[in-house]
Amino acid sequence: MSAGFLPYGRQTIDEADIAAVATALRGDLLTTGPTVARFEAAFAAATGSAHAVVSNSGTAALHLAAMAIGLGPGDAAIVPTLTFLATANAVRMTGAEVVFADVDAEMGLLTADTLKAAVARARVLGLKPRAAFPVHLNGRVCDMAALAQVAGAHGIVLIEDACHALGLADIGACRHSAAACFSTHPVKAIATGEGGVTTTADPEIARRMAALRSHGMVREPARFQRRDLAFDADGTPNPWYYEMPEFGWNYRMPDLLCALGLSQLAKLDMFQRRRRELAALYDRLLAPLAPVIRPVPHADAAHGWHLYAVLVDFAKLGKTRGALMRALHARGIGSQVHYTPVHLQPYYAARYGTLDLPGAAAYYAQCLSIPFYPTLTDADAARVAEAFAAELGA
Ligand SMILES: Cc1ncc(COP(=O)(O)O)c(C=O)c1O
Repeated sequence: MSAGFLPYGRQTIDEADIAAVATALRGDLLTTGPTVARFEAAFAAATGSAHAVVSNSGTAALHLAAMAIGLGPGDAAIVPTLTFLATANAVRMTGAEVVFADVDAEMGLLTADTLKAAVARARVLGLKPRAAFPVHLNGRVCDMAALAQVAGAHGIVLIEDACHALGLADIGACRHSAAACFSTHPVKAIATGEGGVTTTADPEIARRMAALRSHGMVREPARFQRRDLAFDADGTPNPWYYEMPEFGWNYRMPDLLCALGLSQLAKLDMFQRRRRELAALYDRLLAPLAPVIRPVPHADAAHGWHLYAVLVDFAKLGKTRGALMRALHARGIGSQVHYTPVHLQPYYAARYGTLDLPGAAAYYAQCLSIPFYPTLTDADAARVAEAFAAELGA
C-alpha cells in the first residue's frame, strides 16, 4: 500500500521508458526525425486506424482535426458541455462558433437526443452546425452509431474527442467519424508529458493535418505551385525548397516524446488490464455505500477506463462536495471534478449567454473522480473505499 498521497490520476513510468528517452537524446535528431513516423505507425496499429498524426497536445490534435475538415469562421460546431475546455476551445481556434449540447444525467455523454436538441437550438439561432464532437467521458464510449445517424441526417461531420478512451479496440478506427483525437497528458492512458494524436481513415485529412501541424508546409514536389522557385532549369526540384500553400502552426511532437510514447504504447494492454481490474475492485468495495455513493453506471458498456468516477448524493451525505474533497484530502486521498460544464465558463457565458442544460447540471452536481491509475494497489483502493465509508458514517 502507498502510505503517501493518492492523486486521482498519474503516469506510470518505468526504466524502459527512461532508457527509451535516453536513447532518443543520444540520437541525431531530437525533433522531426524517424521516431515520429514510428510512433504514428505503432499508434495506428494499436487503434486499428489507417492513419495517425501526432501533435504536441490533445488540444492540438482536436484543432488539427477541426481545421482538416474545413471548420472556420461562419461555421458552427456542437460540443457537449460536459468536457474539458479544450474540446470547445479547439472549435473557437478555427473561428467557428460553439453550440453547447446537453448530456445524459447518469453518464455525462452526448446522446442522439441531446445532439438532436442542440441541432434544433442551433437552427433557432440561425446556425447550421457542420461538425459535432462527441466526448467519450471517463472512457465510456458514446453510442457512435446512434450519433452518426442523427449527424448524417443533418450533414454533420463527427470528430471524436477520444482523449479518455485510448486502449479500447476500435476507438480510433473512425467507423462513424472523420477523426478521433487522443491526448498523452500524464493522467491519460499513456503519457508523453504533453502530446496528442489524431487518427483518421481518410488519407486526405491525414495529409492536411500533417501539413497544418508544421506551419502549413509541404515538401512534395508534385504539390508545389511556384514552379519558378521550386525547380531548377532542368526540372529538378530545388533541394532547399518547401512551400506554404495555407497557414499552419507548429504543433510537432519531438522525437524525444515519440520515443517515450512508443515505449508507453508497448505497455498499453497491461495498463488497461490493471485499470479494468481496479474498476471491478472499486465496484465491489463501493457497493455497500449505495445509493448515496455509487459508481457512474457502466454495465456492459464499451469503456476505456481513463477515470473512475462516482456519483454522490451530497444532500443525503450531509456534506458539500468541497467539504468531502477536503476531508478526503486530509486522509491522503485526491479527487477531482470532471468537469464544470464548459458553457458556465465566463468566456463562453459572455459569448453565448445562459443555457439550460439540465442533464449536464445533474451530472456535474454529483460527479467525483477518485484515485485510479495502473500502479494503484488493491490496498490503496481499499483505503479509498474505507475513507468514503468513514465520511458516510457507514
Ligand atoms: C476530454 C479532453 N479533451 C481534450 C483534452 C486536451 O488534451 P491536452 O491536455 O493533451 O491538450 C483533454 C485533456 O485534459 C481531455 O480530457
